[in-house]
Amino acid sequence: MHSKPRAVITGIEAYIPDYVLTNDELSTMVDTSDEWIMSRVGIKERHILKEDGLGTSYMGAIAVERLLKATHTDPSEVQMLLCHCVTPDMQFPATANIISDKVGIKNAWGYDTNAGCSGFLFTFETIRRFIETGEYKKIVLVCGERMSGIVDYQDRSTCPLFGDAAVALMIEPSEDDSLGFQDSILHVDGIGRRYLYQSAGGSLYPAREDTVAKRLHFIHQEGQQVFKHAVVGMADVSEEMMKRHNLKAEDIAYLVPHQANLRIIDATARRMGLEKDKVLINIDKFGNTAGTSIPLAIWYFKNKFKKGDNLIFSAFGAGFTWGAIFYRWAY
Ligand code: UT7
Repeated sequence: MHSKPRAVITGIEAYIPDYVLTNDELSTMVDTSDEWIMSRVGIKERHILKEDGLGTSYMGAIAVERLLKATHTDPSEVQMLLCHCVTPDMQFPATANIISDKVGIKNAWGYDTNAGCSGFLFTFETIRRFIETGEYKKIVLVCGERMSGIVDYQDRSTCPLFGDAAVALMIEPSEDDSLGFQDSILHVDGIGRRYLYQSAGGSLYPAREDTVAKRLHFIHQEGQQVFKHAVVGMADVSEEMMKRHNLKAEDIAYLVPHQANLRIIDATARRMGLEKDKVLINIDKFGNTAGTSIPLAIWYFKNKFKKGDNLIFSAFGAGFTWGAIFYRWAY
């Protein structure tokens, strides 16, 4: 018997920028093709926040405003706001603070988290611990990324991959033990820091003329190395979660995977023994939105979910970070 309150998602809203960057347009920018991107990754298009002077908080604040409206929540009721992003508006203050200011959340505290593409899992785990104290009734989680701000549109090996979006979730306690956040398995392994990073702009390599000239403010990825670890890590942890809870494929309503590469998703689903219709995929429309991709898929497919559905959220990302959450849909 789990005597602590469960963390449940009671609302989810998103902001998707209007501009659609297609594979055909990318093919005019670098030496690539729709055929290569679709067969190797599975992305057809991605949304981009194109306008200068707008950052992650712009999208995050709109998503939070929509969430407050949809859940009939007054900003004064929110006790905590966490923002997960690898593309904060600026180094400091935290994007969480900027979003809170923009939407009029004044009675809350909060901060940014950064766990790469596993960020939703890691931050949801943090929030569930606060919920379990019994002191928190309304926590807002914002996952947002303006990946286009750190993508090198001269590098064909990374520029087709990433997209922009923000999703806001309301997380509240439930006394019903059977619903909401059931369990998590989370991992980090620093070996990953060699293969996926944005090297400049922090304290190690502050912005200077040479860091700009060497294009060090952009994402660098050794794709094959990340792929090799991701395909094993995501499948292992998802299978482990099934075994731990004695879940058979037929017990799982949906796998909601991080959307980095269709081949990684397929390998995870195969290991779990899931048919295609139980795997929620929108990578073709949005690309890889880093830690936003799982909530973006939850938001995109939420009308499919029924109360009591067993969901597995599973991710792998920079760091390396990876993990899975077993969640039971609550409304
Ligand atoms: O979300 C965070 C975690 N990230 C991930 O999980 C990403 C994991 N990695 C991947 O998904 C894949 O490694 C990529 C999609 C990034 C790359 O796919 P790949 O099948 O591993 O390709 P590759 O890097 O091994 O490159 C194969 C070939 C190379 O050409 P040669 O050397 O065989 O002649 C590349 O130069 O494909 C070439 N290539 C491209 N060709 C056309 C690389 N990018 C492109 C491109 N268009 N955009």
